[in-house]
Amino acid sequence: MLRTHTCGELTAKQIGKKVTLCGWVHRRRDHGGVIFIDLRDRYGLTQVVFDPEVNKSAWETASNVRTEFVLKVTGTIRERPEGQTNPRMETGEIEIYIDEIVILNHAKTTPFEIDQEKHVNEELRLKYRYLDLRHHRLQKNIILRHQLIKAIRDFMDKEDFLEIETPILIKGTPEGSREYLVPSRLYPGNFYVLPQSPQQLKQLLMVAGMDRYFQIARCFRDEDQRGDRQPEFTQLDVEMSFVEEKDVMCVTERLLIELTKKFAPDKKILKTPFPAISWKEAMERYGSDKPDIRFAMEIVDISDIVTKSEFKVFAGAIKKGGVVKALRVENGAQFARSEIDALEEVAKAHGAKGLAYFQYKKEGIQSPLLKFLKPEEVEAVTKKTGAKTGDIVFFGADEFTTACAALGQVRLACADKFRLRDPDVFAYLWVNEFPMFERDKETGGLTAMHHPFTRPMDEDRALLDKKPEKARAVAYDIILNGNEIGGGSIRIHEPDLQKKIFNILKISDRDAEIRFGHMLEAFSYGAPPHGGIAPGIDRIVMLFAGEPNIREVIAFPKDQKAKDLTLGAPSVIPEKQIREANIKILN
Ligand code: AMO
Ligand code: AMP
Repeated sequence: MLRTHTCGELTAKQIGKKVTLCGWVHRRRDHGGVIFIDLRDRYGLTQVVFDPEVNKSAWETASNVRTEFVLKVTGTIRERPEGQTNPRMETGEIEIYIDEIVILNHAKTTPFEIDQEKHVNEELRLKYRYLDLRHHRLQKNIILRHQLIKAIRDFMDKEDFLEIETPILIKGTPEGSREYLVPSRLYPGNFYVLPQSPQQLKQLLMVAGMDRYFQIARCFRDEDQRGDRQPEFTQLDVEMSFVEEKDVMCVTERLLIELTKKFAPDKKILKTPFPAISWKEAMERYGSDKPDIRFAMEIVDISDIVTKSEFKVFAGAIKKGGVVKALRVENGAQFARSEIDALEEVAKAHGAKGLAYFQYKKEGIQSPLLKFLKPEEVEAVTKKTGAKTGDIVFFGADEFTTACAALGQVRLACADKFRLRDPDVFAYLWVNEFPMFERDKETGGLTAMHHPFTRPMDEDRALLDKKPEKARAVAYDIILNGNEIGGGSIRIHEPDLQKKIFNILKISDRDAEIRFGHMLEAFSYGAPPHGGIAPGIDRIVMLFAGEPNIREVIAFPKDQKAKDLTLGAPSVIPEKQIREANIKILN
């Protein structure tokens, strides 16, 4: 090693010792002839001092050193003089008097300062990610990520799970996103597909008798980017044989509690065992399939009150098979017109046609709808919502999911306004009994809400023939503070049932054979009942680190437009390679 110690480990205990440190120049200060440098490495900062009286030539070299130069320095540890100790630094009691310095490397002026928590344009940060990663906050995140994954591996090992790698060049597995394709050189016109998840392979491992599998698995999805999504991300992928829903939940829950205690000991877990509510109840009460339950502010149904109302927006929605939902926000009567307009925009962005409201002012209820509603209707709404002076009640009239989801978003926006989302609380929640299918907005056909290998609930089996959209799945999501941090299901292990689900999804027997013949065949050789889950590692680390988006906990993330700005991908490739890949560029 070029050094005897790191920049984070020296304390007053080693005073008098001669040491050699290596690191980057974090800060340099010239104090009347004496030069102070904070030398930085992954482990911390140490103040090194160059005094012309101690060593003139070292001092001269230090005079030419600039920020981010890489140094090797040798000197003696001394106690810092009175009044100059820094209790905020782990090494704040000591400094090193240097008598030897080697400049290991020079550095150009960096495009942004490493030591400041200033706002730096994200594009620049991603382009120079290797500099951005020098920042203490990001280093902490990457270290936390490592420790979390290590703890996960230890936990899974202790619980008898085997870590098994599955291939990246596969045939594709449907998880509802567009897939990344890899052209084949040896088979012109054929493609590998990158896995959206190892779903099918982990099920095949159950058929193989592996019993309990896990993998820290990289997944690829060509979908629109958001703060909590990346085109490639990491799952803790899990599958178990001979289990029911509660068994998968139980292991997941124990793991999450262990991780929370270890890595977020200051957070209060709202409730254990984690509460579980059905998808329907989550939508009804919170207007979301991933509710933040750190605060109440629940949505209520007022359809029965306004079915015959003269207010056409309400009665009309119900007539069309929809619902009318209400959300009471305490102390919301004070909202200015502009704030209400902004909340209406939130609702509209989630499909609502408007956002009617009652403001419970001291002088009485104020609302543009008052003239359309009978006093007894108003009274019944007030009673049902529990509204009192000072509150506001918002309404959503639409088909079930839209009405709930729009108010659910208004609920979150209001919670942010009143700071109701307590950052010291970790509210874990299971949401289960998801619908098996949902309607595709473009084609009108049914698609799998989780994925097509998900098992229908036994009691809903008959619905598959008559009303498949009403059938519920043995599928569950784990939610933390309003974020979906994992999803899973009990699977289908019978070829006939699997074929039936494919048929409902309008995948013909022929297509099913081409796309999933291997699964159907595997199921015919004695597949055990099985199920699993896949918590998203990036989202978990993000929440544990208290970061606002997953890019902050990934060493080399893609930008919002799926670009790798550090390496510059995607990029044009040479003509020869294109020819070898048997593809033609159209434009
Ligand atoms: P699902 O598609 O619900 O299930 O994904 C599981 C979890 O993975 C995380 N996740 C993502 N994280 C970052 N960026 C993305 N683009 C992204 N997409 C998903 C989320 C999500 O909850 N094979 C099934 C699991 C199973 O049934 O066992 C699956 O992949 O935290
Ligand atoms: P309008 O009759 O369109 O002028 O709407 C009257 C009020 O009802 C306005 O405050 C609208 O924002 C609201 N509104 C309109 N459509 C809906 C709807 N589907 N759900 C809830 N509020 C609505």
